[in-house]
Amino acid sequence: MTEHSASPPAQGNHDADIEQLFDANGSLSHAVAGFRPRQSQTEMAKAIAAAIGGQKTLIAEAGTGTGKTFAYLVPALLWGGKVILSTGTKNLQDQLYLRDIPTVRKALGAPVSVALLKGRANYVCHFHLERTLQNGRLTSREDVGYLREISRFIKTTSSGDKAELSRVPESAPVWNLVTSTRDTCLGAECQYYQDCFVMKARKEAQQADVVVVNHHLFFADVALKDTGVAELLPSANTIIFDEAHQLPETATLFFGETVSTSQVLELCRDVLAEGLAHARDGAEWAKVVAPVERAARDLRLAFPQDVVRLAVNQIATSSPFFPALEKLKDELDAMTAVLEKQAERAETIEQCRVRAIELGNKLEAWAKAQAGHGDVEAGQERVLWVEAFSSSLQLHQTPLSIAPVFSKQREGSPRAWIFTSATLAVKNDFSHYISQMGLWDEPAQSWPSPFDYGRQGLLYVPEHLPEPNSFDYTDAVIDAALPVIEASAGRAFLLCTTIRAVNRAAERLREEFDKRKLPFPLLVQGEAGRTELLDRFRAAGNAVLIGSQSFWEGVDVRGEALSLVIIDKLPFSPPDDPVLAARIDALEKKGLNGFVHHQLPETIINLKQGAGRLIRDETDRGVLMICDPRLISKPYGRRIWQSLPPFKRTREPAVVQAFFRGEQQEDGAQAS
Ligand SMILES: Nc1ncnc2c1ncn2[C@@H]1O[C@H](COP(=O)(O)OP(=O)(O)OP(=O)(O)O)[C@@H](O)[C@H]1O
Ligand code: SF4
Ligand SMILES: [Mg+2]
Repeated sequence: MTEHSASPPAQGNHDADIEQLFDANGSLSHAVAGFRPRQSQTEMAKAIAAAIGGQKTLIAEAGTGTGKTFAYLVPALLWGGKVILSTGTKNLQDQLYLRDIPTVRKALGAPVSVALLKGRANYVCHFHLERTLQNGRLTSREDVGYLREISRFIKTTSSGDKAELSRVPESAPVWNLVTSTRDTCLGAECQYYQDCFVMKARKEAQQADVVVVNHHLFFADVALKDTGVAELLPSANTIIFDEAHQLPETATLFFGETVSTSQVLELCRDVLAEGLAHARDGAEWAKVVAPVERAARDLRLAFPQDVVRLAVNQIATSSPFFPALEKLKDELDAMTAVLEKQAERAETIEQCRVRAIELGNKLEAWAKAQAGHGDVEAGQERVLWVEAFSSSLQLHQTPLSIAPVFSKQREGSPRAWIFTSATLAVKNDFSHYISQMGLWDEPAQSWPSPFDYGRQGLLYVPEHLPEPNSFDYTDAVIDAALPVIEASAGRAFLLCTTIRAVNRAAERLREEFDKRKLPFPLLVQGEAGRTELLDRFRAAGNAVLIGSQSFWEGVDVRGEALSLVIIDKLPFSPPDDPVLAARIDALEKKGLNGFVHHQLPETIINLKQGAGRLIRDETDRGVLMICDPRLISKPYGRRIWQSLPPFKRTREPAVVQAFFRGEQQEDGAQAS
């Protein structure tokens, strides 16, 4: 459909239209159960409509649960022209595509076409599926069964999206064998090109009025030009980022460069397989790959630790790492030379040759940058660091700031850029976000939450907790939390900052629940998938869920099932992060305090997201318990709690108990 695709309408004032649509008897009220006008939502929709009409940028913040989705969908569908809508996760993408957009489209009667575009790893690849069926290296019986399911699936699906095949778990290793990567896709040379799901999704995205993507895909694509977002950009009139607080981190991932020893080992495996299959007499393939594999393993072994992250200037000049890197480059070059000779024997060998050259170039670039010979544009400083995992080593070049790269992205033809989230500002100050993203001089606005936090919520900071770095801190948290969990009858999230704390807390709570004969089901991160844990949590109605960072954001449990959120420590980033250290360094060189200007705002945003799980509609009630004594004892603590929603505050367990008994007790709790 093209009505909207030509160009967005001339600037005009849509305020009256929006008032009407969001009115108590407006179009939305007929389409959304329980719809009630929310002033923040209506005002936000007006501001977004104005930005869209004027092809401007807008940074728009409104608290969790305000209804931001409708606030941007209404103007986007009516006046957005060609829209790219990017959100934080694939689950949220599906939710927009399957639920929210159809609701709004129907309410408005807007004749817009919509497409969903995910990363290529989500689509079954005919070529790799066929190859795996023929010479698969399947190891488990389970995988054999899954493979059969997948072969059946592609005959009936029209999207090829693995999310449609719930019988094969998303994490099943077999998916790696039946999907493509940018490296292993044959592109136009592929015999299945006409039926290819990746190409189909890309084509549909090109023709649609509204394309729903996720941040990883958006930035992977802008950086690597792989699955089609980059080709969509030129024609897009409106780009909307929901969950926009995640962008600095996601963009950092993709505007950097990473090369890893496991990529080298994967290449070696493919060289051996393809060489033997198509050019057995061309070379002694086992002898060709062996020295490369050995060199890759030796590079990993240069770091004896199990897991470590080091900035390059933390590596001793005498470390075996540097000669091992040279050696790997040399051995890879030797293998590349063999591939050059054999490339014409098969398309797949040619492809290995291209990968070998790319990997060689990346290793070379990293080594050069490390030696100080890299060519780095002004303002684009990079942090060089290594990250060792149990069996691989990654070499990273991470931009110190994504602001220059991202603001360059936004240059060129005028279009509207909308950045929205519940957590972009710290006390109405957007400067941290703006400087991270390079959105200088762009308007930013914040709308108040429709919820009455003073009545609906209580912030409880227990007394007498030890310093957070003390040995038995988690035990002290549990001791303080137990009476509160009893008072709330379960219905609690315990959010921890480390996995170690998750495990210790689980151990202790299990013991205590047994001892005290408390009936609350205990759900622990890692014991089942995230979706499943949440389903069980909602179903139980009295469960306690213990999780780490991945449960802090995007989790939506409405109503009674979640009435208590306990946070063990203020979520400061780990101090050994080399990129963080370099960023703080850079701020301090400019005379700014790295803690105040970087770590603290990041922590506040994390904390607000965690706290945002609690109150999800006008009738929710709940307690936020933050155990960290630094919230009270440190000078910055005040800044933190003042940035949270205006809960009532208390340090008295009795006030918490009264709250759960439903008494609106004023004594001991002060309005903040
Ligand atoms: N005006 C309204 N009246 C009643 N319900 C609404 C209204 N607007 C939105 N909703 C509903 O409120 C819920 C929250 O909306 P939405 O998910 O858009 O919140 P949000 O602002 O994006 O919050 P978060 O930051 O948590 O993502 C949804 O279930 C939505 O259907
Ligand atoms: S074009 Fe690429 S993704 Fe598509 S079927 Fe062929 S190899 Fe797979
Ligand atoms: Mg939202």
